[in-house]
Amino acid sequence: ATEETKTKARILVSDAMSKEGLAPLLGQDHIECIQQNVKDVEDQDTYDALLVRSGTTVTPEIMDQMSNLKIIARAGVGVDNIDVDAATKRGIVVINAPDGNTISTAEHTFAMIMSLARNIPQADASIQNGEWNRKAFQGVELRGKTLGVVGFGRIGSEIAKRARGFDLSLLVYDPFLTEERAGKLGVEIGTLDEVLEKSDIITVHTPLTKDTKGMLNRDNLGKTKPGVLLINCARGGIIDEEALYEYLENGHIGGAALDVFEEEPAQNNKLVGLNQVITTPHIAASTKEAQLNVAEQVSDEVLQFLNGTPALNS
Ligand code: MLT
Repeated sequence: ATEETKTKARILVSDAMSKEGLAPLLGQDHIECIQQNVKDVEDQDTYDALLVRSGTTVTPEIMDQMSNLKIIARAGVGVDNIDVDAATKRGIVVINAPDGNTISTAEHTFAMIMSLARNIPQADASIQNGEWNRKAFQGVELRGKTLGVVGFGRIGSEIAKRARGFDLSLLVYDPFLTEERAGKLGVEIGTLDEVLEKSDIITVHTPLTKDTKGMLNRDNLGKTKPGVLLINCARGGIIDEEALYEYLENGHIGGAALDVFEEEPAQNNKLVGLNQVITTPHIAASTKEAQLNVAEQVSDEVLQFLNGTPALNS
Protein backbone atom coordinates (compact mmCIF):
# COMPACT_ATOMS: atom_id res chain seq x y z
CA ALA A 1 0.00 0.00 0.00
CA THR A 2 1.15 3.54 -0.72
CA GLU A 3 1.62 6.18 1.99
CA GLU A 4 -1.73 7.66 1.03
CA THR A 5 -3.72 4.44 1.23
CA LYS A 6 -2.23 3.53 4.60
CA THR A 7 -4.05 6.42 6.20
CA LYS A 8 -7.32 5.29 4.66
CA ALA A 9 -9.53 2.48 5.79
CA ARG A 10 -9.65 -0.17 3.09
CA ILE A 11 -12.73 -2.15 2.18
CA LEU A 12 -12.78 -5.16 -0.09
CA VAL A 13 -16.09 -5.92 -1.79
CA SER A 14 -15.62 -9.52 -2.85
CA ASP A 15 -19.02 -10.30 -4.45
CA ALA A 16 -21.17 -8.35 -6.90
CA MET A 17 -23.17 -5.72 -5.04
CA SER A 18 -25.44 -2.81 -5.85
CA LYS A 19 -23.24 0.23 -6.60
CA GLU A 20 -26.02 2.51 -5.51
CA GLY A 21 -26.26 0.63 -2.23
CA LEU A 22 -22.53 1.00 -1.66
CA ALA A 23 -22.76 4.77 -2.12
CA PRO A 24 -22.32 5.54 1.62
CA LEU A 25 -18.86 3.96 1.41
CA LEU A 26 -17.85 5.13 -2.04
CA GLY A 27 -18.13 8.82 -1.35
CA GLN A 28 -15.78 8.93 1.66
CA ASP A 29 -12.35 10.57 1.54
CA HIS A 30 -11.03 8.42 4.35
CA ILE A 31 -12.15 5.14 2.83
CA GLU A 32 -10.90 3.20 -0.13
CA CYS A 33 -13.36 0.67 -1.51
CA ILE A 34 -12.08 -1.99 -3.89
CA GLN A 35 -14.39 -4.36 -5.77
CA GLN A 36 -12.56 -7.58 -6.53
CA ASN A 37 -12.83 -11.22 -5.55
CA VAL A 38 -10.77 -11.89 -2.46
CA LYS A 39 -9.04 -14.77 -4.25
CA ASP A 40 -7.69 -12.43 -6.92
CA VAL A 41 -6.36 -9.86 -4.47
CA GLU A 42 -2.65 -9.79 -3.65
CA ASP A 43 -2.52 -7.28 -0.80
CA GLN A 44 -5.04 -9.14 1.34
CA ASP A 45 -3.33 -8.02 4.54
CA THR A 46 -4.17 -4.35 3.92
CA TYR A 47 -7.95 -4.50 4.26
CA ASP A 48 -9.93 -3.43 7.31
CA ALA A 49 -13.32 -4.63 6.09
CA LEU A 50 -14.59 -7.41 3.84
CA LEU A 51 -18.05 -7.26 2.21
CA VAL A 52 -19.54 -10.45 0.78
CA ARG A 53 -22.75 -12.03 -0.44
CA SER A 54 -23.00 -15.82 -0.63
CA GLY A 55 -20.43 -16.25 -3.41
CA THR A 56 -17.38 -15.86 -1.18
CA THR A 57 -16.69 -18.48 1.47
CA VAL A 58 -14.85 -16.74 4.27
CA THR A 59 -12.58 -19.40 5.74
CA PRO A 60 -10.10 -19.15 8.65
CA GLU A 61 -7.32 -19.20 6.00
CA ILE A 62 -8.71 -16.10 4.33
CA MET A 63 -9.00 -14.43 7.74
CA ASP A 64 -5.35 -15.25 8.48
CA GLN A 65 -4.25 -13.83 5.15
CA MET A 66 -6.34 -10.74 5.80
CA SER A 67 -4.41 -10.06 8.97
CA ASN A 68 -5.67 -6.48 9.30
CA LEU A 69 -9.34 -7.44 9.01
CA LYS A 70 -11.69 -6.00 11.63
CA ILE A 71 -15.14 -6.54 10.20
CA ILE A 72 -16.86 -8.92 7.79
CA ALA A 73 -20.20 -7.76 6.44
CA ARG A 74 -22.65 -10.09 4.78
CA ALA A 75 -24.95 -8.25 2.36
CA GLY A 76 -27.78 -10.66 3.01
CA VAL A 77 -29.16 -12.76 5.81
CA GLY A 78 -27.34 -16.09 5.99
CA VAL A 79 -23.86 -16.03 7.49
CA ASP A 80 -23.31 -19.74 6.84
CA ASN A 81 -20.60 -18.89 4.28
CA ILE A 82 -18.60 -17.19 7.03
CA ASP A 83 -16.78 -19.14 9.73
CA VAL A 84 -18.18 -16.99 12.54
CA ASP A 85 -16.38 -18.89 15.32
CA ALA A 86 -13.04 -18.38 13.59
CA ALA A 87 -13.83 -14.69 13.15
CA THR A 88 -14.78 -14.30 16.82
CA LYS A 89 -11.52 -15.99 17.87
CA ARG A 90 -9.62 -13.45 15.81
CA GLY A 91 -11.60 -10.52 17.18
CA ILE A 92 -13.25 -9.87 13.82
CA VAL A 93 -16.82 -8.57 13.95
CA VAL A 94 -19.39 -10.24 11.67
CA ILE A 95 -22.53 -8.34 10.65
CA ASN A 96 -25.36 -9.06 8.23
CA ALA A 97 -28.36 -7.35 6.66
CA PRO A 98 -31.18 -9.24 8.34
CA ASP A 99 -34.25 -7.85 6.62
CA GLY A 100 -33.36 -6.15 3.34
CA ASN A 101 -34.30 -9.10 1.16
CA THR A 102 -37.27 -10.52 3.09
CA ILE A 103 -39.94 -9.43 0.62
CA SER A 104 -37.99 -10.56 -2.44
CA THR A 105 -37.46 -14.00 -0.93
CA ALA A 106 -41.13 -14.34 0.03
CA GLU A 107 -42.16 -13.28 -3.48
CA HIS A 108 -39.73 -15.70 -5.10
CA THR A 109 -41.13 -18.48 -2.93
CA PHE A 110 -44.58 -17.75 -4.34
CA ALA A 111 -43.20 -17.66 -7.87
CA MET A 112 -41.82 -21.13 -7.17
CA ILE A 113 -45.08 -22.38 -5.65
CA MET A 114 -47.09 -21.18 -8.66
CA SER A 115 -44.54 -22.54 -11.12
CA LEU A 116 -44.67 -25.94 -9.46
CA ALA A 117 -48.45 -26.03 -9.12
CA ARG A 118 -48.96 -25.14 -12.80
CA ASN A 119 -45.85 -26.72 -14.36
CA ILE A 120 -44.89 -23.41 -15.88
CA PRO A 121 -41.19 -24.06 -16.62
CA GLN A 122 -41.96 -27.47 -18.12
CA ALA A 123 -44.82 -26.08 -20.24
CA ASP A 124 -42.61 -23.25 -21.42
CA ALA A 125 -39.81 -25.65 -22.37
CA SER A 126 -42.30 -27.81 -24.26
CA ILE A 127 -43.80 -24.97 -26.30
CA GLN A 128 -40.34 -23.66 -27.09
CA ASN A 129 -39.61 -27.12 -28.36
CA GLY A 130 -42.34 -26.75 -30.98
CA GLU A 131 -44.97 -28.76 -29.06
CA TRP A 132 -48.54 -27.80 -28.13
CA ASN A 133 -49.34 -30.25 -25.37
CA ARG A 134 -52.31 -29.16 -23.26
CA LYS A 135 -52.74 -32.55 -21.61
CA ALA A 136 -49.31 -32.96 -20.10
CA PHE A 137 -49.43 -29.90 -17.90
CA GLN A 138 -52.56 -30.19 -15.82
CA GLY A 139 -51.87 -28.48 -12.52
CA VAL A 140 -53.51 -28.04 -9.13
CA GLU A 141 -55.26 -25.07 -7.55
CA LEU A 142 -53.85 -23.49 -4.41
CA ARG A 143 -57.26 -22.64 -2.99
CA GLY A 144 -58.11 -24.68 0.08
CA LYS A 145 -54.71 -26.36 0.25
CA THR A 146 -52.49 -26.42 3.31
CA LEU A 147 -49.15 -24.69 3.02
CA GLY A 148 -46.66 -25.95 5.59
CA VAL A 149 -43.98 -23.48 6.60
CA VAL A 150 -40.92 -24.78 8.41
CA GLY A 151 -39.22 -21.83 10.10
CA PHE A 152 -41.41 -18.80 10.71
CA GLY A 153 -39.23 -15.73 10.99
CA ARG A 154 -39.37 -12.61 8.84
CA ILE A 155 -39.73 -14.43 5.52
CA GLY A 156 -42.27 -16.92 6.85
CA SER A 157 -44.43 -14.08 8.15
CA GLU A 158 -44.44 -12.36 4.75
CA ILE A 159 -45.38 -15.66 3.15
CA ALA A 160 -48.32 -15.93 5.55
CA LYS A 161 -49.61 -12.52 4.45
CA ARG A 162 -49.44 -13.46 0.78
CA ALA A 163 -50.88 -16.92 1.32
CA ARG A 164 -54.17 -15.39 2.45
CA GLY A 165 -54.73 -13.98 -1.01
CA PHE A 166 -54.55 -17.49 -2.43
CA ASP A 167 -56.94 -18.97 0.17
CA LEU A 168 -54.23 -21.24 1.51
CA SER A 169 -54.34 -22.46 5.13
CA LEU A 170 -51.04 -22.15 6.91
CA LEU A 171 -49.58 -24.74 9.22
CA VAL A 172 -46.33 -23.60 10.73
CA TYR A 173 -43.47 -25.22 12.61
CA ASP A 174 -41.15 -22.94 14.51
CA PRO A 175 -39.98 -23.65 18.06
CA PHE A 176 -39.77 -19.90 18.72
CA LEU A 177 -43.27 -19.01 17.54
CA THR A 178 -45.77 -18.02 20.24
CA GLU A 179 -49.51 -18.73 20.07
CA GLU A 180 -50.12 -15.00 20.29
CA ARG A 181 -48.04 -14.18 17.23
CA ALA A 182 -49.46 -17.16 15.32
CA GLY A 183 -52.96 -15.93 16.11
CA LYS A 184 -52.15 -12.43 14.89
CA LEU A 185 -50.86 -13.79 11.60
CA GLY A 186 -53.74 -16.24 11.24
CA VAL A 187 -51.60 -19.37 11.14
CA GLU A 188 -51.83 -22.65 13.00
CA ILE A 189 -48.85 -24.00 14.93
CA GLY A 190 -47.88 -27.64 14.50
CA THR A 191 -45.00 -29.95 15.33
CA LEU A 192 -42.59 -30.71 12.50
CA ASP A 193 -44.27 -34.09 12.02
CA GLU A 194 -47.72 -32.49 11.87
CA VAL A 195 -46.54 -30.03 9.23
CA LEU A 196 -45.07 -32.87 7.21
CA GLU A 197 -48.13 -35.07 7.55
CA LYS A 198 -50.84 -32.51 6.84
CA SER A 199 -49.42 -30.13 4.24
CA ASP A 200 -50.01 -30.22 0.50
CA ILE A 201 -47.10 -27.85 -0.12
CA ILE A 202 -44.12 -27.38 2.22
CA THR A 203 -41.66 -24.51 2.15
CA VAL A 204 -38.61 -24.18 4.41
CA HIS A 205 -37.38 -20.86 5.83
CA THR A 206 -34.77 -21.58 8.48
CA PRO A 207 -31.11 -20.66 8.47
CA LEU A 208 -28.67 -23.53 7.87
CA THR A 209 -27.21 -24.60 11.20
CA LYS A 210 -26.14 -27.92 12.66
CA ASP A 211 -29.70 -28.29 13.97
CA THR A 212 -31.45 -27.57 10.69
CA LYS A 213 -29.11 -29.47 8.38
CA GLY A 214 -31.05 -32.47 7.10
CA MET A 215 -34.12 -31.39 9.07
CA LEU A 216 -36.22 -32.90 6.29
CA ASN A 217 -34.67 -36.28 5.73
CA ARG A 218 -35.20 -39.88 4.68
CA ASP A 219 -37.02 -40.71 7.94
CA ASN A 220 -39.50 -37.89 8.09
CA LEU A 221 -40.07 -37.12 4.38
CA GLY A 222 -41.87 -40.46 4.19
CA LYS A 223 -44.54 -39.00 6.48
CA THR A 224 -45.59 -36.41 3.89
CA LYS A 225 -48.75 -36.72 1.82
CA PRO A 226 -48.22 -38.54 -1.48
CA GLY A 227 -47.73 -35.93 -4.21
CA VAL A 228 -46.59 -33.20 -1.79
CA LEU A 229 -44.73 -30.25 -3.31
CA LEU A 230 -41.53 -29.02 -1.61
CA ILE A 231 -39.89 -25.62 -1.92
CA ASN A 232 -36.47 -24.56 -0.72
CA CYS A 233 -35.58 -20.89 -1.14
CA ALA A 234 -33.62 -20.88 2.14
CA ARG A 235 -30.44 -22.98 2.17
CA GLY A 236 -29.31 -26.13 0.45
CA GLY A 237 -29.10 -29.02 2.90
CA ILE A 238 -32.12 -28.16 5.06
CA ILE A 239 -33.87 -30.77 2.92
CA ASP A 240 -31.48 -33.68 2.53
CA GLU A 241 -30.84 -33.84 -1.23
CA GLU A 242 -30.22 -37.58 -1.43
CA ALA A 243 -33.48 -38.34 0.39
CA LEU A 244 -35.36 -35.80 -1.73
CA TYR A 245 -34.03 -37.45 -4.87
CA GLU A 246 -35.18 -40.88 -3.71
CA TYR A 247 -38.71 -39.70 -2.84
CA LEU A 248 -39.01 -37.85 -6.16
CA GLU A 249 -37.78 -40.90 -8.05
CA ASN A 250 -40.24 -43.25 -6.35
CA GLY A 251 -43.06 -40.77 -6.99
CA HIS A 252 -43.96 -40.08 -3.35
CA ILE A 253 -42.97 -36.41 -3.60
CA GLY A 254 -44.82 -34.79 -6.50
CA GLY A 255 -42.37 -32.00 -7.23
CA ALA A 256 -39.71 -29.73 -5.81
CA ALA A 257 -38.70 -26.15 -6.49
CA LEU A 258 -35.15 -25.36 -5.47
CA ASP A 259 -33.34 -22.04 -5.41
CA VAL A 260 -30.53 -23.34 -3.22
CA PHE A 261 -28.36 -26.44 -3.17
CA GLU A 262 -26.03 -28.33 -0.85
CA GLU A 263 -23.22 -27.41 -3.20
CA GLU A 264 -23.30 -24.20 -5.22
CA PRO A 265 -22.96 -23.64 -8.10
CA ALA A 266 -25.20 -26.69 -8.58
CA GLN A 267 -23.25 -28.41 -11.30
CA ASN A 268 -23.64 -32.16 -11.70
CA ASN A 269 -26.51 -32.16 -9.21
CA LYS A 270 -28.76 -35.08 -10.11
CA LEU A 271 -31.87 -33.27 -8.82
CA VAL A 272 -31.47 -30.68 -11.56
CA GLY A 273 -32.16 -33.19 -14.33
CA LEU A 274 -35.45 -34.48 -12.90
CA ASN A 275 -38.62 -33.46 -14.72
CA GLN A 276 -40.53 -32.81 -11.46
CA VAL A 277 -37.83 -30.46 -10.21
CA ILE A 278 -37.67 -26.79 -11.11
CA THR A 279 -34.68 -24.69 -10.21
CA THR A 280 -33.27 -21.19 -10.03
CA PRO A 281 -29.62 -20.33 -9.30
CA HIS A 282 -29.91 -18.86 -5.75
CA ILE A 283 -31.72 -15.75 -6.96
CA ALA A 284 -34.52 -15.37 -4.40
CA ALA A 285 -32.88 -12.20 -3.12
CA SER A 286 -31.76 -11.00 -6.53
CA THR A 287 -34.03 -8.07 -7.13
CA LYS A 288 -33.13 -4.46 -7.65
CA GLU A 289 -34.85 -3.50 -4.42
CA ALA A 290 -33.41 -6.22 -2.20
CA GLN A 291 -29.87 -5.74 -3.44
CA LEU A 292 -30.10 -2.01 -2.89
CA ASN A 293 -31.46 -2.60 0.62
CA VAL A 294 -28.84 -5.11 1.74
CA ALA A 295 -25.90 -3.19 0.27
CA GLU A 296 -27.14 0.00 1.90
CA GLN A 297 -27.69 -1.69 5.26
CA VAL A 298 -24.19 -3.16 5.44
CA SER A 299 -22.55 -0.02 4.01
CA ASP A 300 -24.09 2.14 6.71
CA GLU A 301 -23.00 -0.27 9.43
CA VAL A 302 -19.49 -0.70 8.10
CA LEU A 303 -19.14 3.06 7.81
CA GLN A 304 -20.22 3.54 11.41
CA PHE A 305 -17.90 0.78 12.55
CA LEU A 306 -14.91 2.21 10.69
CA ASN A 307 -15.60 5.70 11.90
CA GLY A 308 -15.47 4.42 15.44
CA THR A 309 -12.26 2.52 14.95
CA PRO A 310 -9.30 4.19 16.68
CA ALA A 311 -6.87 2.82 14.06
CA LEU A 312 -8.54 5.03 11.49
CA ASN A 313 -7.46 8.22 13.20
CA SER A 314 -4.03 7.04 14.26
C1 MLT B 1 -29.23 -14.39 1.98
O1 MLT B 1 -28.79 -15.13 2.86
O2 MLT B 1 -29.46 -13.21 2.20
C2 MLT B 1 -29.49 -14.93 0.63
O3 MLT B 1 -29.02 -16.18 0.41
C3 MLT B 1 -29.29 -13.96 -0.46
C4 MLT B 1 -28.00 -13.82 -1.17
O4 MLT B 1 -26.98 -14.38 -0.85
O5 MLT B 1 -28.00 -13.05 -2.13
